[in-house]
Amino acid sequence: RRYRIAVIPGDGIGKEVMPEGVRALEAAAAAFGFTLDLEWHDFACCDYYARHGQMMPDDWKARLDGVDALFFGAVGWPDTVPDHISLWQSLLQFRREYDQYVNLRPVRLMPGVPCPLAGRKPGDIDFWVVRENTEGEYSSVGGHMFPGTDREIVIQETVMTRHGVDRVLRYAFDLASKRERRHLTSATKSNGIAITMPFWDARVEAIAPEYPGVTHDKYHIDILTAQFVMNPQRFDVVVASNLFGDILSDLGPACTGTIGVAPSANINPDGRFPSLFEPVHGSAPDIAGQGIANPVGQVWSAVMMLEHLGEAEAAAAIMGAIEATLVSDNGRTRDLSGSASTEACGKAIASLIG
Ligand code: NAI
Ligand code: MG
Repeated sequence: RRYRIAVIPGDGIGKEVMPEGVRALEAAAAAFGFTLDLEWHDFACCDYYARHGQMMPDDWKARLDGVDALFFGAVGWPDTVPDHISLWQSLLQFRREYDQYVNLRPVRLMPGVPCPLAGRKPGDIDFWVVRENTEGEYSSVGGHMFPGTDREIVIQETVMTRHGVDRVLRYAFDLASKRERRHLTSATKSNGIAITMPFWDARVEAIAPEYPGVTHDKYHIDILTAQFVMNPQRFDVVVASNLFGDILSDLGPACTGTIGVAPSANINPDGRFPSLFEPVHGSAPDIAGQGIANPVGQVWSAVMMLEHLGEAEAAAAIMGAIEATLVSDNGRTRDLSGSASTEACGKAIASLIG
């Protein structure tokens, strides 16, 4: 087995945690007998922008042609490039051009990570958030009229297609069908958003019969956010439109401790295009350059990437190494009240793989 991986560290702590993600990948490849062709790229970062006036080369697609996956750090350096430019010209290009219509994040309370919700222990919180990643509220349909006058009007439309909604719902039902509890929760707001959200609800009901083993329910997004905090043990797989999913997929990991450990995947389930794996956190300018960033989010993203590539055993081995390191004395970084450097944490994880 041989995989071509585009490695894109990006900005800030992305450059610091990426080598630790790669360290874990290389240890897993050696232990489980597959080969990784890692292709490092210096674009999709603000240094590249400083040199070229854009975040990526015009021919970025040709340069990434044929890769099996993208392993991404974090992008953004607001002091030099406004966030809407740095993100839109990089990450959002990958998501759209590669039709990565599923954004997948685990919400799992890990051993060694103090839970901000009182009285929870590992095992109590363990679910997935599936976010629609290509349409919905984040559309470019709209307009801005009479700017700067007292007649100013701004409009941005939500776009939902049957194709786009159905495919993310099927992904979520399918994921739920493979889990022990086999339960799907849909995020809605059909009591207030009276056109698109009733459509979303209707598509859930239309697709549910294809998955007779999966139970499902729905919550309005406002009470759902409250339930994430009050009763997170209730959830198994949660599916949501782009905006609601964006909010839930930050809230979920926040309910389980430090943002430094959470991973995410932007997936093209058809396999027609490569998928992208990245930690949830950003470039953290406030701690960049100090070697103290927690690399676990990057390493756990490697786990998701290996699962996607079909290397389940190697993925499980890295996951076990992460869990052991999070409860060890020498592997915890400062955000987890430890004193390990980024590199020490990464080396501790890698030493336990195999
Ligand atoms: P951030 O996630 O970079 O940082 C938020 C807070 O969490 C900071 O206090 C930071 O020190 C801490 N933190 C984050 N990751 C950590 C880690 N691995 N270990 C220890 N502490 C960690 O979010 P922020 O500050 O809102 O954004 C900074 C830049 O990152 C912006 O340019 C933003 O646009 C970009 N960003 C990029 C993302 C991506 O590439 N997918 C996602 C989120 C933000
Ligand atoms: Mg977000």
